[in-house]
Amino acid sequence: MKTLVVCYSLTGKTRAIAQAMAETVGADYVEMKEIFPYTMVSAYTRGAIKARKRHNEDILPVQADVSEYDCVIVAGPIWASSPAPALYDFIREYDLKGKQAYGLLTYRGKAGGAAKILREELENAKSLCRSVITVKADKDTVRAFVSRKLSFAMQEDGKIILEKETTPDLQEASDEAGSGRE
Ligand SMILES: Cc1cc2nc3c(=O)[nH]c(=O)nc-3n(C[C@H](O)[C@H](O)[C@H](O)COP(=O)(O)O)c2cc1C
Repeated sequence: MKTLVVCYSLTGKTRAIAQAMAETVGADYVEMKEIFPYTMVSAYTRGAIKARKRHNEDILPVQADVSEYDCVIVAGPIWASSPAPALYDFIREYDLKGKQAYGLLTYRGKAGGAAKILREELENAKSLCRSVITVKADKDTVRAFVSRKLSFAMQEDGKIILEKETTPDLQEASDEAGSGRE
């Protein structure tokens, strides 16, 4: 299955995990960039409000021909218990009809209803949303993905699963990373 990871990341955590995911599931990787990029301050003052209202933030064209892919993985952070606004823009601008789709959301404390919202957006775009995966992106978990102690793999039927090295100290990180499937 030809798979594309499309990632938005403000502070790098989703990027690190999504790039690792692209490599381990054999997907191409591109990024979403806003036309007017958020700073940390404007993300909290403006971005969080937009995210909560499900308003999009305009992004530049992504550097891939999305129509060529059978499966699209939309990745980004949770802002105000919602997907970051760039994700709405990608999902609403590009034709995802009939494609397999996954969401990958990272967060720091509480995911809230973000996974449900992202699933709804992907379904509104008439994609076949298989799962929205949420990852609590603390330092250890991000490191575990970067070092491939934790990794995502895609099975032949297109199902994405979490794999881990069987060392006991990783159990907690892996439970967290795997616990948020919707
Ligand atoms: C504007 C803003 C709002 C956020 N809101 C939440 C939230 O509601 N719940 C949460 O657990 N984390 C929240 N976070 C933390 C991010 O979701 C988390 O750090 C994420 O992994 C960052 O991803 P990134 O490094 O790819 O930008 C927020 C961060 C920002 C900048």
